Amino acid sequence: MIKSYIWSSFTRVFHIILVISVGLVFILAEFDKLLSWHAAIGFTIGLLFVYRILWGFMDVKYSKFKDFNFNLHDLQEYIFNVFTDKKKYVGHNPASSWAIVAMIALGLGSVFTGIVVYGTQEGMGILSFLNISLFKDMDFFEDVHELFANSFMAVIFIHIAGVLLDRVLHSSKAIESMIGGYKESDATSLKLTFFQRVFGVVWIGTSIFFFLYLLANPSNLLIADANTPVDYKKEHTLFFNECKSCHTLYPPYLLPKQSWVKMMDNLENHFGDDASLEASDKEFIKDYLVQNAAENSTKESAFKILKSIKDEEIIAITKTPYWKRRHSEIDKSIFTSKEIAAASNCKACHQNIEQGLLNDKDIKIPEIAKG
Ligand code: HEC
Ligand code: HEC
Repeated sequence: MIKSYIWSSFTRVFHIILVISVGLVFILAEFDKLLSWHAAIGFTIGLLFVYRILWGFMDVKYSKFKDFNFNLHDLQEYIFNVFTDKKKYVGHNPASSWAIVAMIALGLGSVFTGIVVYGTQEGMGILSFLNISLFKDMDFFEDVHELFANSFMAVIFIHIAGVLLDRVLHSSKAIESMIGGYKESDATSLKLTFFQRVFGVVWIGTSIFFFLYLLANPSNLLIADANTPVDYKKEHTLFFNECKSCHTLYPPYLLPKQSWVKMMDNLENHFGDDASLEASDKEFIKDYLVQNAAENSTKESAFKILKSIKDEEIIAITKTPYWKRRHSEIDKSIFTSKEIAAASNCKACHQNIEQGLLNDKDIKIPEIAKG
């Protein structure tokens, strides 16, 4: 049988890079510490898709959207006849035509909503300014992002299942053609123009370069951290000196107003210690803590601690439901290890907490403590 060239090398390389990056982006979503990698790959997937859309409007045989089959009647026929003999398609069959468009739409939707979550929740990236105005909706945006991402994954599974089914039932060579480019057929072979070749090189080249650039420059506009460190010593020297003398300097945004008031009005009996101060000093620090309490912060941890406390009278951060949930996977023996000593010793794992920073990427459990 004669062979025809169907998928250009650019389409095939794009497909492979996409498979790897989508796989990675899903795995990395589980690791908070690797959030900037998740973001960098997400942006790259977005760029790859934008090029793919442009490619679809260029006159590239089989890859252009004009050559896709969106006819619903054909789709129905294709699906109903899966188990019997079915019509052969050289380019995209009706099912894969729809799947590809769905994947592009859901993939780009995932990227865009991801940027919104990154901005509203973490105060990071190109939309970091949204943290101030929209932080109360951070959970909503996260749900929407997950909905897009999971739907994207669902279509990918259907697409893979379809390809495998086609292989088992009809010994289709779709996988081989996506790797080698050729299909057994007497259809017209694909021929790229010079301009299309240049476009293909730019497509793959700039996408790889873009990804490496994002990784190598964590402070670039797209993924940069807009959270600025706070110099508590300068902001409130008394608070800094008094509250840092026995333990980590806890940023005021980690507890609600009523917790600070209750704690400050009872310093004589402060977790078994006497931390009492002169009345005027006490009021001075209390005012500062209340002004900067969780209610007045747009930070993710402030918002979530506040939400989890509800009206309970909790004065220890480590007793809040949010804190407990976020640290539930850490072995108890790590907290009591020699290097850490107590869960309240936040700075052992959150290196910049005393500058008011609690970002995912700064979390580090000391090696020795892991035993
Ligand atoms: C004399 C020593 C001392 C001073 C001074 C002191 N603390 Fe404490 N603080 C403690 C001890 C001890 C604990 C209990 C730590 C533990 O449970 O491991 C504690 C716990 C806390 C906790 C709860 C930590 C957790 O487990 O979530 C907060 C919040 C806190 N202190 C805030 C303050 C503030 C604000 C000041 C300044 C006004 C202050 N502390 C000054 C000794 C002190
Ligand atoms: C033994 C190390 C360790 C100690 C001590 C520790 N943490 Fe954590 N913390 C972690 C780890 C690891 C995570 C990330 C858990 C995850 O992946 O969900 C985390 C997550 C968090 C988060 C969520 C991060 C975010 O983006 O909002 C907050 C807030 C937090 N810790 C606050 C604290 C505070 C406050 C203290 C001290 C009272 C503390 N932690 C003590 C290890 C520690």
